Amino acid sequence: MMILSKKFVELAAVLGNVRLGSDVYSLLLDAPQICREAKPGQFVGVKTGWGQAPFLRRPLSVADAADGRITIIYRAAGVGTSWLAARREGEKVDIMGPLGHGFSLEAKRPLLVGGGIGIAPLISVARSFAGRFGSGIVLAGRNKDEITYWQAMFKDLCHCVYIATDDGSMGIRGNALAVLPQAAEEGGYDCIYACGPPPMLKAIAAFVRQKNIPCQLSLESRMGCGLGACQACSCQGADGKRKRICLNGPVFAAGEVEGL
Ligand code: FES
Repeated sequence: MMILSKKFVELAAVLGNVRLGSDVYSLLLDAPQICREAKPGQFVGVKTGWGQAPFLRRPLSVADAADGRITIIYRAAGVGTSWLAARREGEKVDIMGPLGHGFSLEAKRPLLVGGGIGIAPLISVARSFAGRFGSGIVLAGRNKDEITYWQAMFKDLCHCVYIATDDGSMGIRGNALAVLPQAAEEGGYDCIYACGPPPMLKAIAAFVRQKNIPCQLSLESRMGCGLGACQACSCQGADGKRKRICLNGPVFAAGEVEGL
């Protein structure tokens, strides 16, 4: 399932940086080389400052890539991402990518499952399947405000949209697992593509193991180099070997990483 590609460093012009919800932004960048190579599920390393600090690039998934442009949807939750949220049209952002390897898109009837900001990389996955197969998506978030913009993005890309919110303000109250069994039962899906917080991925891995459904999980991790050199993102593989999420992932088959 390795999908390797060339990597580039681009000084990408900001074409737009819009606030979607309370702390979530959509950044559109002019990045023709990265756009050309990016596969659904890959990420970029973003420099979130002008000078040397912060030294490490911030790993952010590519939500969409088309026409020489890439979209990054991110939560402004710290110094680096808040710096990014302040960037305006015409400014430049230093990005490196595409990094890691993406999803294998061989399903006939895919079910996408996204939690919180983990929904972002599923946009390009859904676009790859759109118009070809009957795909579904589970959108799980904190509340109606958060789900509303995700729902608008996926309404023309997925055949069925299942919704869960923590506070019950939209869809079923609960997390992704509150709707996943019903969605899987109704849709007859042959592969699950999931991205979200670790507890959600762990629960999905347990579910697909029980139901014997193939599944690919995109893991989130703190990273250093993003290139497989520093081990900052390593985790234990089920085969007893260490895996580097930036290099061997971020997408893994369920069962490939210990505990998932
Ligand atoms: Fe350095 Fe993954 S971030 S090895």
